[in-house]
Amino acid sequence: MTNKFKYFIGNWKMFGNLASLNSIKQVHNFCLKFKKYTSKSKIIYCVPYTLIYFFSQKLKSKFISFGAQNCHFVETFGPYTGSVSASMLKKVGAKYVIIGHSENRFEGDTNKLIKQKIESALKQNLNVIFCVGETLKEKNKGKTFKVIKNQIKSSLSKKYNFNKIILAYEPVWAIGTGKIPKIQTVKKTIIFIKNQFQKILKVKKTPVVLYGGSVNNSNIRMFSSISEIDGFLIGGASQSSKKFIDIIKNYYK
Ligand code: PGA
Repeated sequence: MTNKFKYFIGNWKMFGNLASLNSIKQVHNFCLKFKKYTSKSKIIYCVPYTLIYFFSQKLKSKFISFGAQNCHFVETFGPYTGSVSASMLKKVGAKYVIIGHSENRFEGDTNKLIKQKIESALKQNLNVIFCVGETLKEKNKGKTFKVIKNQIKSSLSKKYNFNKIILAYEPVWAIGTGKIPKIQTVKKTIIFIKNQFQKILKVKKTPVVLYGGSVNNSNIRMFSSISEIDGFLIGGASQSSKKFIDIIKNYYK
């Protein structure tokens, strides 16, 4: 089953300042002009913590929502130097939060910690973008499905509100490298994730599953042929409004 909307989620990583709002305004103007695209799409920008409040105050757009790229596992406050909690994100206007990105897994986020972060985010009524995916080593050993299954099993629980969870399949070796998996492999893996989600969590709901990793305005055409992909988590290319707009345009071409 496929979902109604296609998601185009920008992950700005450690990029952007107050002036970068102009880039998002361009995307907003594009949305205003081309309703045929935007009526079928959800556009979300996951920006650095420092920009969420300013952007969400300055740009009240019915087309674009804002989110964060991570949060602390403690839901509200505590002695955690340098950290930001889900409740703090909520209060500055974030609607979404990416959790389990491989760049954070490399910095020490385990499946268990990711589970605690997801719980905190859901308690604050944030939408979670939960990233899963295999490293190159795991791929070469033929362990992709095993790794993903374990990530889902260890970080999600039956009691969660699944309407608030989006999954993103991000092969770690495809992030920021310009390399992408074979399109049939992406299709197979996305279907696997949807099936495992239903099986492990014993739910009928088909989850929203995105693809992420080196998505750009030329390879997007290939991805658009796979109806099971419910959208994209876009890193590098989302930092340019032109590239981001071209991705959306080319997707629907
Ligand atoms: P990329 O990043 O598009 O630059 O490969 C994707 C991501 O990290 O979510």
